[in-house]
Order: sequence, then structure tokens, then C-alpha cells
Amino acid sequence: MFNLKVLITFICLISICCSFVSSQNILSSQNISSRDILSQNTSQNQDISTQDISFIYKEPINGLILYNTYTLSLEGSFLIWMILEDKDPECILPHLHLRLIDKTGKIKYMDFNYTLPAEAICPFNMEILPLTYNYVMIIYVKSNNGIKGKYGKIINYSNESINEIYLGNANGSVEFSISGKGLISIEKPDKEGIAIWRLFSISDITRGKVIEHKNVEFHAPNLLSYTLVDSLSFPLTDGGFGFMYILKYDETKGSSVMRDPNLQYWRVYTSFLRVGADSPMAPFLVYQTTKKLNNITIKLCTVTYNAEGYVCIMALNNTITNKNNKSQTEVNYYQLRFLSTGAIVRLNIISNPTNNTNINLKSLNYGGFLLQHHDNSVMDYYLLDDDGNYMQSLGSFGPEFIHFNMFRINNTIFGIKNQSNNKWEFLLKSLPRLNNQSKLLISFLSSHPYKKILEKTDK
Ligand SMILES: *[C@@H]1O[C@H](CO)[C@@H](O)[C@H](O)[C@H]1NC(C)=O
Ligand SMILES: *[C@@H]1O[C@H](CO)[C@@H](O)[C@H](O)[C@H]1NC(C)=O
Ligand SMILES: *[C@@H]1O[C@H](CO)[C@@H](O)[C@H](O)[C@H]1NC(C)=O
Ligand SMILES: *[C@@H]1O[C@H](CO)[C@@H](O)[C@H](O)[C@H]1NC(C)=O
Ligand SMILES: *[C@@H]1O[C@H](CO)[C@@H](O)[C@H](O)[C@H]1NC(C)=O
Ligand SMILES: *[C@@H]1O[C@H](CO)[C@@H](O)[C@H](O)[C@H]1NC(C)=O
Ligand SMILES: *[C@@H]1O[C@H](CO)[C@@H](O)[C@H](O)[C@H]1NC(C)=O
Ligand SMILES: *[C@@H]1O[C@H](CO)[C@@H](O)[C@H](O)[C@H]1NC(C)=O
Ligand SMILES: *[C@@H]1O[C@H](CO)[C@@H](O)[C@H](O)[C@H]1NC(C)=O
Ligand SMILES: *[C@@H]1O[C@H](CO)[C@@H](O)[C@H](O)[C@H]1NC(C)=O
Ligand SMILES: *[C@@H]1O[C@H](CO)[C@@H](O)[C@H](O)[C@H]1NC(C)=O
Ligand SMILES: *[C@@H]1O[C@H](CO)[C@@H](O)[C@H](O)[C@H]1NC(C)=O
Repeated sequence: MFNLKVLITFICLISICCSFVSSQNILSSQNISSRDILSQNTSQNQDISTQDISFIYKEPINGLILYNTYTLSLEGSFLIWMILEDKDPECILPHLHLRLIDKTGKIKYMDFNYTLPAEAICPFNMEILPLTYNYVMIIYVKSNNGIKGKYGKIINYSNESINEIYLGNANGSVEFSISGKGLISIEKPDKEGIAIWRLFSISDITRGKVIEHKNVEFHAPNLLSYTLVDSLSFPLTDGGFGFMYILKYDETKGSSVMRDPNLQYWRVYTSFLRVGADSPMAPFLVYQTTKKLNNITIKLCTVTYNAEGYVCIMALNNTITNKNNKSQTEVNYYQLRFLSTGAIVRLNIISNPTNNTNINLKSLNYGGFLLQHHDNSVMDYYLLDDDGNYMQSLGSFGPEFIHFNMFRINNTIFGIKNQSNNKWEFLLKSLPRLNNQSKLLISFLSSHPYKKILEKTDK
């Protein structure tokens, strides 16, 4: 097994209005040394087409390593987060180093001497979320009077910061609304399925005004004998938020009388918190099964590329026993589409051309899905159509690549290769478009980069 994990829900925003702020004095800028279209040798396991673009990023500060990337789709820029590792391999030094590479190849270097809370850097446990108008939110866990909580701090690219805001308990997740003007922090639901949603509005981000204007207690349907196993939030097209959660029948809680053959072992619900509403809508059932599966997990929920509703990917993990009494675990991926009214449009299995159960799926901005699979240090890509049928293999990034991400806005994936002397090579590949039009150009698209570096922190 590869020690590879998907960074959860890093949301990259696109600004709706392209306001390009002129470079500030404290930011040095320099151009990328852009290479001619692939003159280099093609390495093993790597398919390079003439349409690919490659460039090299040179980091001026010695010792910094590439930790993560974010794509700001509308501006077409990359945000790179570089870190300096500490002697303790689980820790980093408390400075924030961000590099913004814009479409023209110009780079802004941002080296902020923040004294980040000890708990955020040792062990390293921090996220950043790029926002509109050249802002990022730094999210970290810190203790206050012995109680761990999640906090956020917004800074702009000139290092102007606003006050720290309390986002909720340490186990929550943070999500921005589709306009970038709202922010929700959802605590992890407790055993009873109760979670606090804290809504913030960013009324004037250029002045850094973030106001908590509501907090809502949310209850999963109180179904006797069911327990909550997984939940996920996602932004709605109207500016609100959706919440999907999975309940499992708990045999220890249920009655021991004769098993009802129609008993639904698993139930999946969705609920919407509409913009401006005081409380979430009554949850609606989107899937249930009488199969006693090992588990159901939600991989993704997002607006469909044609903005007609939402698509969620669920993984159903099941152990099957064949006629030779050999048991085998299979994981099947399903897509579930529903409208903003809650009406279910479709539910169908997604084909998996790999022999591996551990795959990653992304909904593409011009239709279809991108399937990623990491094997023998190679990242393989496949294209599926809207129905989830296999269409074609898209090639792979070889073992020398340490990081992968994509620009969802223009169907471009990229891999980053580590080179000596503080250099990183970016290789961008265009994916085929199944449709000519995407309605999601002005909206935000999430990116879930794979992280292959700093593996030692997740033993
Ligand atoms: C850097 O890029 C800018 C804008 O594309 C261009 O005007 C300038 O000449 C470039 N500088 C160098 C040193 O290539
Ligand atoms: C291509 O690979 C060959 C053999 O490994 C090597 O001799 C040559 O220098 C490489 N060329 C480039 C441009 O890297
Ligand atoms: C997609 O956007 C990125 C970032 O601006 C750019 O480098 C790349 O060339 C674009 N790809 C296509 C196919 O337009
Ligand atoms: C950035 O802001 C922080 C907090 O206000 C301050 O401690 C630090 O010195 C600033 N760094 C730069 C480069 O301005
Ligand atoms: C940040 O800290 C480093 C090391 O402590 C120092 O070399 C550098 O000058 C500082 N930068 C700023 C802008 O304060
Ligand atoms: C950062 O915020 C300050 C204060 O609001 C503002 O003057 C400055 O223009 C902002 N810089 C950028 C790059 O957004
Ligand atoms: C967060 O999760 C950890 C481990 O799952 C648990 O021990 C802790 O009590 C949780 N904290 C809160 C505030 O829910
Ligand atoms: C089922 O999936 C959830 C979400 O990924 C996970 O938290 C839980 O541990 C899994 N349960 C089992 C029995 O594997
Ligand atoms: C499927 O479930 C089994 C049993 O809970 C677990 O060991 C296995 O890791 C799961 N597989 C995946 C891909 O989640
Ligand atoms: C399969 O296993 C069950 C119980 O372990 C046993 O009763 C049955 O005879 C086995 N069947 C075969 C075909 O081996
Ligand atoms: C999957 O496994 C089968 C049987 O072992 C093999 O024939 C096939 O080539 C494999 N497919 C892939 C994509 O690895
Ligand atoms: C990148 O390469 C440098 C020098 O070749 C090496 O010291 C460093 O550990 C590498 N980093 C990663 C993340 O592979």
C-alpha cells in the first residue's frame, strides 16, 4: 500500500470579478524560466504529448520544500505553499511561504514571519484556503484555556491580517460558499448525529470583515437503531450548503426479534441549508440498501458541470464469498445525482478500469469523470463519460513526480517533479472535453491534490 493520502476539501476560489492588485513593494517578482515544449527525454511510464506544457519553478530560499499547491482557476494562477522542515520530521518552522505564479509566469513571493501556534506546526497540522481578492485563510487548531478549537486567520497577499476567528471545535471542516462571500464551519457530528454549523459572512473581504452571524444546531434524522458513520458538506449554487450523511443500522441497538428481510442496513440522506434560511431543510433519503455492506463512504459532492444539480460519489465496500468459500472485498463506486429540489435524477455504478479498489474520482468541468489511481509510484489517469462508463486511458505521471493537482476550470492536470538545486518541474496536460460548454466558469471549483511528500507525518 502506498502511503498516500488525499488532502481533504481544499477549496480553491475563483474571484468573480478579476481585480488584479498590483504587486506590492514587499513582494519581489520574477519570471519563470519557461521551457520549450518538451525537449526533455521522456521518462519511463510517462506519456507526454506535444500539447503538454512544462516549466521549472526555482525557489530562491534554500531548504524550502514544496508542500502543497492550490489552483485559482479564474485567474489561472497557481499558489504554492513551501515549508521549512524542522529537525523533528513531524514539525515545520513557523513561517508562511506562499508563491503565486500567474498566467504570464510572473511570481509573487510571500514570506511571512508569522509566529504560528505551536500546535499548528508541531506536529504540523494546518491548512490554508485561498479566497477571492488575494486573500488566504490560515486554519489551525490551538488550545485556549486547555480546550482545543479550530481558528482561522485571513491575510492578504500583503500580509495584512484581520483578527483571528473561532471556527468551532477541533474536529470540524470549513467550506466556502460558491460566491466566496459565505463561510461555514461544521463540527464533526457527535454520536447522536448532532453538529453545530457556524455561518460567517464575509461582508467586505478587502477590509477583512468576517462576521459570525448564525450558528445552527443540526440533527441527523433521529432514527432509532441507526448510527451516523460519515458526513460531508458541499456548497450549493444558491450560496447555501448541502450536507450528506450516512447512517448504518446498529444491530446492537435494534430489536433482536426476527430479522426483517426488508431491513435497510444503510441509509444515505441529504439536507440543504439554503442561503438566508434559519435552519436546514428536512433531510431527504437519497439511497438505502438491504445489503449488509462493510461500509459506505462519500468521496465527493459537487455541482454538476451543467449546473443542473449535484453529483455525489459513494464507495460501497462489500465482502463477497464465492462458491469456493473464498471471500473477497470489493469496492464499487456509484454516482448519485439529484436536483436542488432534492429530486433524484440517477443512481448508477461507475466503471473502474483498474484492478484496484482504491481510486479517486473527480467530476470534470466539461463533462465526465477523471479517475486517478496510484500504483507502483505511477499516477494513472482514465476518462469516464457522464454515465460513468470507461472511455479511454489518459496516460500517467511517472514515479519521479511528487505532487499532482489540476485546474478544473480548463480540464488541465499537472504533476510536479522534484529536481536538484531548489527546482521543481511542472508538467501540465490537457484532458479531452466531452462537451463544449461548461456553466461553471463563474463559480468555484475545488481541488483535492494528492500529497506524496511529507509522508513521514502520516505513518
Ligand atoms: C517577464 O514577464 C513580463 C510580462 O510577461 C515581461 O514584460 C518581461 O519582459 C519579462 N521579463 C523577463 C526578464 O523575461
Ligand atoms: C536523454 O537521455 C540520454 C540517455 O539517458 C542522455 O544521454 C541525454 O543526455 C538525455 N538528453 C536530455 C536532453 O536530457
Ligand atoms: C489551463 O490553465 C493553466 C493555468 O492558467 C494554464 O497554464 C494552462 O495552459 C491552461 N490549459 C489550457 C488547455 O488552456
Ligand atoms: C506579517 O504579519 C505578522 C502578523 O501581523 C507579523 O508578525 C510579520 O512580521 C509580518 N511579516 C511581514 C513580512 O510583513
Ligand atoms: C523572517 O525570519 C527569518 C529568520 O528568522 C529572517 O531571516 C528574515 O529576515 C525574516 N523576514 C522578515 C521579512 O522579517
Ligand atoms: C491588503 O490589505 C491592505 C489593508 O486593507 C490594503 O491596503 C492592501 O492594498 C491589501 N493588499 C492586497 C495585495 O490585497
Ligand atoms: C475530536 O476527535 C478526537 C478523536 O477522534 C476526540 O478524542 C475528541 O474528543 C474530539 N474533540 C471534540 C471537541 O469533539
Ligand atoms: C466507514 O467509513 C467511515 C468514513 O470514511 C470511517 O470513518 C469508518 O471508520 C469506516 N468504518 C469501517 C468499519 O471501516
Ligand atoms: C473495505 O472494508 C474492509 C473491511 O472493513 C477494509 O479492511 C478495507 O480496507 C476496505 N477497503 C477500502 C478500499 O476502503
Ligand atoms: C463454506 O463454508 C461453510 C461454513 O464455513 C461450510 O458450511 C460450507 O460447507 C462451505 N462450502 C464449501 C463449498 O466449501
Ligand atoms: C486486471 O487483472 C486482470 C487479471 O489479473 C488482468 O488481465 C488485467 O490486465 C488487469 N487490468 C489492469 C488494468 O491492470
Ligand atoms: C527533492 O530533491 C532534493 C535534492 O535532490 C532532496 O533533498 C529532497 O529531499 C527532495 N524532496 C522531496 C520531497 O522529494
